[in-house]
Amino acid sequence: MSNLDASRSGTFSIGGDLKVNRLGFGAMRITGKGIWGPPADVEEAKRTLARLPEIGVDFVDTAESYGPYISEELIGEVLAPYSKGTIIATKSGLTRTGPDQWHQLARPEFLRQAVTQSLRRLKLEVIDLWQLHRIESVTPRADQFGAIADMQKNGLIRHVGLSEVSVEDIKEAQKYFKVTTVQNMYNLVSRKAEDVLDYCEANGIGFIPWRPIDGGNLAATSVEFKTIMEKHEASASQIALAWMLKRSPVMLPIPGTGSVKHLEENVGAASIVLSDAEFKTLDAVGRQG
Ligand SMILES: NC(=O)c1ccc[n+]([C@@H]2O[C@H](COP(=O)([O-])OP(=O)(O)OC[C@H]3O[C@@H](n4cnc5c(N)ncnc54)[C@H](OP(=O)(O)O)[C@@H]3O)[C@@H](O)[C@H]2O)c1
Repeated sequence: MSNLDASRSGTFSIGGDLKVNRLGFGAMRITGKGIWGPPADVEEAKRTLARLPEIGVDFVDTAESYGPYISEELIGEVLAPYSKGTIIATKSGLTRTGPDQWHQLARPEFLRQAVTQSLRRLKLEVIDLWQLHRIESVTPRADQFGAIADMQKNGLIRHVGLSEVSVEDIKEAQKYFKVTTVQNMYNLVSRKAEDVLDYCEANGIGFIPWRPIDGGNLAATSVEFKTIMEKHEASASQIALAWMLKRSPVMLPIPGTGSVKHLEENVGAASIVLSDAEFKTLDAVGRQG
């Protein structure tokens, strides 16, 4: 096994039957500024995607709203037909009116349109993991969850995940379908979702922390953090990813980038093994930061 191999992060079985290496890839950053339009360097974005299977990354998170459509289109163009075992997780439940503009929309007919079009762009016959990007506040929940359950029964989607939800939301959705993953914002310094993470761990639900390296803004905020970075000859982002992987066996971080260099740096984190003492120190540093 090479040092640059996502399989070093260990595996998790989504829904009990889709085994992935825990360190995945977030494909929101292969789009333009404001997550709108094509990326500034489309060839580099394609090289980044092409590098994924070479370094063991077999779990890719995207959404129809990234670009919109651009992220899914590039994934379909570069990665399909997919290497055996590769899981592309996508989402819908947000619509776009311009750069950095996001609006909740989860009416049943919109969700159904989104899924059928994601299938086409991703060149798939079934979406292995489809996530509701946001539970919408206007459409009745029974309609949103019911439409998702129908799409699962019809074989369009295999497993269902939720995003930005509370424990209560998960329990409510479980009445309609099995919730196999939850994607909430979580990283070393943003820990609001601890209770949701604990619930996921207790119930075998995959937890996908978005913004896992705090948008690339993590830095050594203390002497203790710097000492750990130096000991492992690692960047702050790499240490933060290693900390998350140790935090829970259901943790599936999806750092996002449009560059091969950053991708390789992030995957390098799979090989960093923190001691229990280092884990505790970082936990305390993160809570302060
Ligand atoms: N469910 C949701 O509501 C939701 C919301 C946001 C994101 N997401 C998902 O979560 C994924 C990750 O979130 P995110 O992309 O917002 O945040 P992130 O992974 O914490 O950070 C990504 C940012 O950090 C930079 N970066 C990446 N690797 C780096 C490195 N090694 N050194 C320095 N900078 C680095 C990237 O720029 P470069 O491109 O220049 O590398 C990018 O701007 C997304 O791609 C998306 O799939 C989901």
